[in-house]
Amino acid sequence: MPEQIVIIGAGQAGVQAVQSLRAEGYTGAITMIGDEAYPPYQRPPLSKAYLLGSFARERLFLKPDAFYREAGCELILNTAVTAIDRAAKKVALNDGRTLAYDKLLLATGTRVRKLSCPGAGLPGIHHLRDIADVDGLQDVFKAGTRIAIVGGGYIGLEVAAVGAKRGLDVTVFETADRLMARAVSKPVSEFFADEHAKAGVKLNLSTSVEAFEGKEKIEGIRAGGKVCPADLVLVGIGVVPNDMLARESGLPFQDGIIVDQNAMTADPSVFAAGDCTRHVGREGVEIRLECVQNAIDQAKHAALAMLGRPKTYSEVPWFWSDQYDLKLQIAGLARPTDQLVLRGDPASRKFAVFHLRDGAVAAVEAVNAAPEYLIGRKMIADGAKVAPETLADISIPMKQIAQG
Ligand code: APR
Repeated sequence: MPEQIVIIGAGQAGVQAVQSLRAEGYTGAITMIGDEAYPPYQRPPLSKAYLLGSFARERLFLKPDAFYREAGCELILNTAVTAIDRAAKKVALNDGRTLAYDKLLLATGTRVRKLSCPGAGLPGIHHLRDIADVDGLQDVFKAGTRIAIVGGGYIGLEVAAVGAKRGLDVTVFETADRLMARAVSKPVSEFFADEHAKAGVKLNLSTSVEAFEGKEKIEGIRAGGKVCPADLVLVGIGVVPNDMLARESGLPFQDGIIVDQNAMTADPSVFAAGDCTRHVGREGVEIRLECVQNAIDQAKHAALAMLGRPKTYSEVPWFWSDQYDLKLQIAGLARPTDQLVLRGDPASRKFAVFHLRDGAVAAVEAVNAAPEYLIGRKMIADGAKVAPETLADISIPMKQIAQG
């Protein structure tokens, strides 16, 4: 049994590890270190209800303060770990302290990717990852403001939807030829493009940003050879893993800290969980997942493995996005070679796209279609096979389809 566990990163994975370690009977010390001012909070609402103003800050926090006291977890906030000494099993903090560990968990998450084009440092260019980012955006996120959004992925489109709802004049610039190309199939990209256009959002696909224009602050964005005036810019072009501490301590990394199916790094005393990791997924392919599901499940597995009870991680990944009154829910990982089956009519604003691989459900993208998502997710976990024509027939309820 370890006696001292140190967790670097006070986010979803970190707090889950605390909870799981105690639930599994660990009685030693736990210290969690976070460089933000806040205890662990949910990030997904930030670009949705929290930006809209319909979600109080207190609701973001994953646990009340009492949780950390009761769990005997020392929470050190506003503090960064600057180095890991794996030989001495110690971490150094930027306040001069060092902490010893028997087991260490890296739950360091990601940071936003930034643009480096001319003008990228102008005031008025925002990113969205932290509470502080949204709080900084609120003052200028006002009706009538012209906002240029760079990136038509999850963050860009969620901000576009909130912006349209709040009366901003929204223009999106996306390099790819369709929206959310990393995450969804073409029919779903097209459906969301229509919905954004209906809400008055101007979409520029296959358009790269060349420069930001302005003297003292942002005044416009040069993209596709034209200048679009803008009072405000939001850049949402993806994230990069915070794997520097692992790299500098000599641990293997490649766009993420490499871990095995027990969330263990190459060092049996060091574990990693969440967005900062890369692992061989349930389909045998290396992947770095950016989602709440992975943060929670990998942290649970890390806790078990730290306590000497490893259990192979093979959960089905799931993701979601809210844009307008549309709930997009995704389970599984699609491949370009999958057979697509459309269930329901996109015009009804309630449909799903299933991905079949060798006759079995491999992934599902559901729009306002909870049964398709929930039952689809179970079918993926079970490797259930289904005929495409059965899946496409909305007169047959999902429950019945799942029963085979
Ligand atoms: N100009 C315009 N678009 C770009 C550029 C660029 N220079 N570079 C990348 N893009 C586009 C990509 O083609 C992609 O569609 O930006 C989009 C980024 O989308 P995501 O990868 O989904 O990243 P983002 O929206 O920033 O979300 C980051 O936050 O919501 C969470 O965990 C979720 O993984 C997500 C993360």
